[in-house]
Amino acid sequence: KRKIIIDCDPGHDDAIAILLAAGARESIELAAITTVAGNAEIGKTTRNALQVCEMAGILDVAVAQGAGQPLVRMRETAPSIHGDTGMDGPKLPEPRLKPAEEHAVDLIIRKLLESDGDITLVPTGPLTNIAMAMRREPAILPKIKEIVLMGGGTFGNWTPAAEFNIYADAEAAKVVFESGVPLTMMGLDVTHQALVTPAISAGFAAIGTPAAAFVGELIVYFREAYRDVFGFTDPPVHDVCCVAYCIDPTIFECRKLHVDIETKGEFSYGMTVIDQTGVTGKEANVNVAFELDFGKFWDLILGAVAKL
Ligand code: BDR
Ligand code: CA
Repeated sequence: KRKIIIDCDPGHDDAIAILLAAGARESIELAAITTVAGNAEIGKTTRNALQVCEMAGILDVAVAQGAGQPLVRMRETAPSIHGDTGMDGPKLPEPRLKPAEEHAVDLIIRKLLESDGDITLVPTGPLTNIAMAMRREPAILPKIKEIVLMGGGTFGNWTPAAEFNIYADAEAAKVVFESGVPLTMMGLDVTHQALVTPAISAGFAAIGTPAAAFVGELIVYFREAYRDVFGFTDPPVHDVCCVAYCIDPTIFECRKLHVDIETKGEFSYGMTVIDQTGVTGKEANVNVAFELDFGKFWDLILGAVAKL
């Protein structure tokens, strides 16, 4: 069983990632959920996380609010993809659950220091909280089992070079990528294979539970946004790849490579510079995912959502 903290900015795909974790209780122990500004402002991503927890029946896990601003740059949100609330589409009641009193960064530090080194961090938004925790308390570094993050890739979606999560706080990403902690990166190369085809949507519809209907509503909105903005037929559920990897890494094909984060480029700010040919001669610091097994991936998610 993997013990994880999901650090997220829900976010349609973040929401489905949380649902997968909740439905896979035999393989995942959810130690906490922390929120960060990203797809929307921090108050919105926190509210969305609480709503998703109620929908998923996650009533016993702390949800702690984190950073509302990136470390250095100006805040960037993604209303074109996720709507003004950050999770437009489904109509959920105001959450009754309340966020924890502790700040996300304090909670991450405390949980790690109290742990036996068995916690995996799963960031599915900008890396602000994780970088702040690393800088504030470096003693957490050897305590982190692994970081399985969504971000980056050999191409971009927010600029031609940069993926949104890295672009939204590249200085934070630089701290995390240079930390020496074992990193697995679910970048756009692999997440763009995690597509919700009409057959997969039909699979969720056939489950017939409120949680599955909620996923259906998220996907209806996400499909339209991806069609309008990127001309995609089917939307990719990026963040879900991280939780799927924690449950069953055999779904993914990865390569250990050296990755640097660009923080100065005129056209390439936020790029994950992936050394695929070994030209830098630098030691690999990231396990980069490139391929996923589509059938195994969706069987896992459909099975988990059906249990909620
Ligand atoms: C990432 O950005 C957000 O819009 C998604 O939730 C995902 O984490 C994809 O680039
Ligand atoms: Ca996200």
